[in-house]
Amino acid sequence: MNIPGQPSRVLSGMRPTGPLHLGHYHGVIKPWVEMQHVHECFYFVADWHALTTEFDSVSEATMKENVLNMIVDWLASGVDPELATIFIQSRVPEHAELYLLLSMISPLGWLERVPSFKDQQEKLKNKDLSTHGFLGYPVLQSADILMYRASLVPVGQDQIPHVELTREIARRFNSVFGKEEGFEQKAENAIRKMGKKNGAQYRRLRTAYTERGDPNALRDAKSFLNSIPNLSRGDRERLQGHLEGSGRQILVEPNHYVTEASKVPGVDGQKMSKSYGNAIYLRDEPNRIDKLIRSMPTDPARVRRNDPGDPGKCPVWDLHKVYSAEDEKKWVSEGCKSASIGCLDCKKPLIGHILDEQEQHMERARAYIEDRSYLNKVIADGCERAGAVAEETMSEVRRYVGTGGYR
Ligand code: TRP
Ligand code: SF4
Repeated sequence: MNIPGQPSRVLSGMRPTGPLHLGHYHGVIKPWVEMQHVHECFYFVADWHALTTEFDSVSEATMKENVLNMIVDWLASGVDPELATIFIQSRVPEHAELYLLLSMISPLGWLERVPSFKDQQEKLKNKDLSTHGFLGYPVLQSADILMYRASLVPVGQDQIPHVELTREIARRFNSVFGKEEGFEQKAENAIRKMGKKNGAQYRRLRTAYTERGDPNALRDAKSFLNSIPNLSRGDRERLQGHLEGSGRQILVEPNHYVTEASKVPGVDGQKMSKSYGNAIYLRDEPNRIDKLIRSMPTDPARVRRNDPGDPGKCPVWDLHKVYSAEDEKKWVSEGCKSASIGCLDCKKPLIGHILDEQEQHMERARAYIEDRSYLNKVIADGCERAGAVAEETMSEVRRYVGTGGYR
């Protein structure tokens, strides 16, 4: 739950399927960097998720290269291991255990209806995605999220159904496993322990939700519970569940946070994506970048050099909006509309900006590439921190599902 004025826990992951492009950089990593200053952040490399679609095409060497380069690029972009926990999914094997346990209660119909299941099967026709692992992809993602009791999950538009499914799985898990003997009585005792005034306030909010279905009351009641300092963890979970008429809230329902679609278009004007073949990579060849930008389509109205154009109809302008300062944007806009500049004139400074950005990025990246022991330490520390949180969640989860009694 998001408590006003208090930092939330953020969790997000990326699949190590190859080099990062400018869409990842501006659309995902930059928001991550901003969030690390405000929230408690966990960022991880989803290597098992990469295997769900790449199982037949990766070797140990390519996987290692993709994973390490991804972390290097995060660091070089400003993700700070002092502020955020950086880890690798497969190095926290609790993810696999929670995935397995969640799979017990995840109805097949829910998984078959997740849009990416059919979409990806149709899009990636050359791959056999009729596998248990691919169907279970969003269950593994749910385990990633629920493990850290994350309240905020920054994702792109396409991932929203996965976060919604995570909420449903958490709710179902809580109602299946959160029932305890004497639940009502225990909840009642917990309310008394809050004191007269707080207890009355809790009851008022709960009634507003259960009898009038007011969703704001549910939200307010949840943050109200979080604001009461002397409530034990057990009682808090009990009452979070009691509010919604379920059992204890063992797993916490997350919210998605949609990162704005990257404003960096691909070199054909469409969304930048590796699979469209229109990407500029974060560590690209200067010559390739030069060639790609020079051949980018522009406003089709500018057939000849002295035909005026409209930047609003030109993907090159979208790049200027990301990369250029105000006076340069003014120069572009006026020059385009009056045909006082040609499209190549317009593109040249842009090529310069992108090459500068790359050079600076590479310079920062080089420091991490050359210092493997530092990189290893960042990863080891992050995996250890993540592992400690995961172990805490799992020891509670095992208790509820019944596998905790003989460890
Ligand atoms: N499925 C995500 C993607 O393809 C990656 C991912 C895996 C993820 N687990 C996650 C994202 C948990 C957010 C939270 O982009
Ligand atoms: Fe696009 Fe620039 Fe050409 Fe205008 S001048 S059409 S903004 S490339």
